Amino acid sequence: MITTENITKSFGSLQVLKGISLHIDRGEVVSIVGPSGAGKTTLLQIIGTLDRPDAGSVYVDSIDVTSLSQKALADFRNRHIGFVFQFHQLLPEFTALENIMIPAYIAGTSQKKAKERANELLQFMGLADRATHKPAELSGGEKQRIAVARALVNNPAVILADEPSGSLDTHNKQELHRLFFDLRDRFGQTFVIVTHDEELAAITDRTIHLRDGQLEPSPKAPLVPEAPLLPEAPLLPEAPLAPSAPEAPVAPLAPSLPESPESPESPQSPQ
Ligand SMILES: Nc1ncnc2c1ncn2[C@@H]1O[C@H](COP(=O)(O)OP(=O)(O)O)[C@@H](O)[C@H]1O
Ligand SMILES: [Mg+2]
Repeated sequence: MITTENITKSFGSLQVLKGISLHIDRGEVVSIVGPSGAGKTTLLQIIGTLDRPDAGSVYVDSIDVTSLSQKALADFRNRHIGFVFQFHQLLPEFTALENIMIPAYIAGTSQKKAKERANELLQFMGLADRATHKPAELSGGEKQRIAVARALVNNPAVILADEPSGSLDTHNKQELHRLFFDLRDRFGQTFVIVTHDEELAAITDRTIHLRDGQLEPSPKAPLVPEAPLLPEAPLLPEAPLAPSAPEAPVAPLAPSLPESPESPESPQSPQ
C-alpha cells in the first residue's frame, strides 16, 4: 500500500529526515509517534505528496509518486489520499454537506453522485441531521468527523491524519478514534496517524517511532535484550541503532464491531 525507500529531506542545513524506509499494508492502522520536531509532519506530508523528498522513493498504491509531474500529483492526491489535520480546516462559508462534497467536485464527480456519497458518509458518522449546518454551528467533535467524511469522499487508498484528536476533549477524542477503527473494519480503510495520544497509539496495529529524523526500533523489541544491568557491563555495547525494527505481526487490536446488516457502498466502487 505505502512503501518509502530511504527518503531524506532537509530544510536548508537542517536534515529533518535521514533515510526513512517503511512499509504499510492495506487496511493497517498505523500510528507515528515521536518528540516534537522529530520530522513526523514532514514524513506524513511526503507520504501524502504534499512535499517531495530530496532523495528516495515513495510508493502509494504501487505508484512511484516521486516520478509524477506536479499536475499528475494533484490529481493523484485528490483521488488516492485523504487528509485529516489537527484543526478541521473546513471552509466556513459552506455547509457540512458541501464541505464533504468539495473533493468529489474537484475529482469531477457529478453533483448528484457527490451529494449521494456525502449524505451516505454523514449518515455513517451519525451526523445526518447536521448536513445543512455550517462549521461555526458544529461542535469540535462534529467538525472533526465532518473532516473525516471529507477525507473519505473519493474513496482514497489511505487516510493520513496529523494529530487528528489533538484539539478534542476526551469524549470526542475517543469517539473519533473509534470511528477510525470502524472505518477500517467496515471499508478496509488504511490509516496513518501522527499522534501524541498514547491511548490511540496503544490501540493501533503498529506504532512507528521517529526521533531526530530516523526510525527507532519499537520499544517492544528490546534494544539490548541480553545486556545485564550490572555496573561493570559496558554501556549498550552492541545497541543496534539500525532503523529497521523487526516487523511486528499485524495484530487486529481494534475492538471488533458487530457486523452491520446494511451493506455500505463498497470502497472500490467507481465514482
Ligand atoms: N517548511 C519548513 N521549513 C523549514 N524548516 C521546517 C519546515 N518544516 C519543518 N521544518 C523543521 O523541521 C523539523 C521537523 O518538523 P516537523 O516535521 O513538523 O516535526 P514534528 O511534526 O515531528 O513536530 C523542525 O525542526 C521544523 O522546524
Ligand atoms: Mg507535526
